[in-house]
Amino acid sequence: MAAPNADELKSLRENFQKKNQTCFILGASGETGKELLAEILRQQLFSRVTLIGRRKLELEGQQYANVSQEVVDFEKLDESAGAFQGHDVGFCCLGTTRAKAGAAGFVRVDRDYIEHSAKLAKAGGCHHFVLQSTKGANISSSFLYLKVKGEAEARVEAVGFDRCSIFRPAVLLCDRQESRPGEWVTRKVLGVVAHISPTAMSVPTVTVARAMVNNVVMPRKDGQMVEILENAAIHALGQPK
Ligand SMILES: NC(=O)c1ccc[n+]([C@@H]2O[C@H](COP(=O)([O-])OP(=O)(O)OC[C@H]3O[C@@H](n4cnc5c(N)ncnc54)[C@H](OP(=O)(O)O)[C@@H]3O)[C@@H](O)[C@H]2O)c1
Repeated sequence: MAAPNADELKSLRENFQKKNQTCFILGASGETGKELLAEILRQQLFSRVTLIGRRKLELEGQQYANVSQEVVDFEKLDESAGAFQGHDVGFCCLGTTRAKAGAAGFVRVDRDYIEHSAKLAKAGGCHHFVLQSTKGANISSSFLYLKVKGEAEARVEAVGFDRCSIFRPAVLLCDRQESRPGEWVTRKVLGVVAHISPTAMSVPTVTVARAMVNNVVMPRKDGQMVEILENAAIHALGQPK
């Protein structure tokens, strides 16, 4: 997918704003999710933004005037089907780690919660689902992480949205608040690599967020219900313009 230039993007954004669309974000409290929320609000792309999460976030200020929050129990998601009603676009930046949740907990969040949310979103009228997956996601992988990510992708695709955009970023670069020592070391090393080869092994969360938002304002390619954006495409689409 060729990234639009600044003038094209400006016009795409203006056209999109006129549509008065609404969106929800899953995982807005996370590192990518919070950048995504900030970018969506900065560009004033949606008439209403709903954050769906397991806890309420402290959001104060005029910039959050059209943001509402739905606190849900992901283990009883059908009880919160109403939270998913009436959104044109759904963004999903949900995820945990095996270290935090154990293997079963990781599968539950990164595959089952996502699939269930996607089904409720589709039933609620969502036509474009944007999923943050990962580089190397592969249903046949012998690594649990990559396999589960591949399964999540396949299950979301099977829901049958008019459009489904799957983002496969490499290692996320950000100042993570939560302590993940292994990831911290990796991130420091990749931060150095990124100076030499910016798109090879990592991507800043802010770039992922911008790429998601830019993807949404671009029209779907004819007949392409599912699009997969690998790390280089995310870099290209997520440059500041
Ligand atoms: N780390 C990397 O380098 C990397 C690379 C490529 C792809 N990814 C993938 O990208 C996605 C986003 O990553 P990120 O680092 O931006 O996310 P993050 O900072 O870890 O945030 C994850 C989000 O998921 C929510 N969440 C976690 N466990 C939950 C649970 N049990 N129930 C409900 N909500 C839960 C968190 O809510 P709370 O704030 O309430 O905990 C938060 O909003 C993930 O799927 C991740 O696997 C990560």
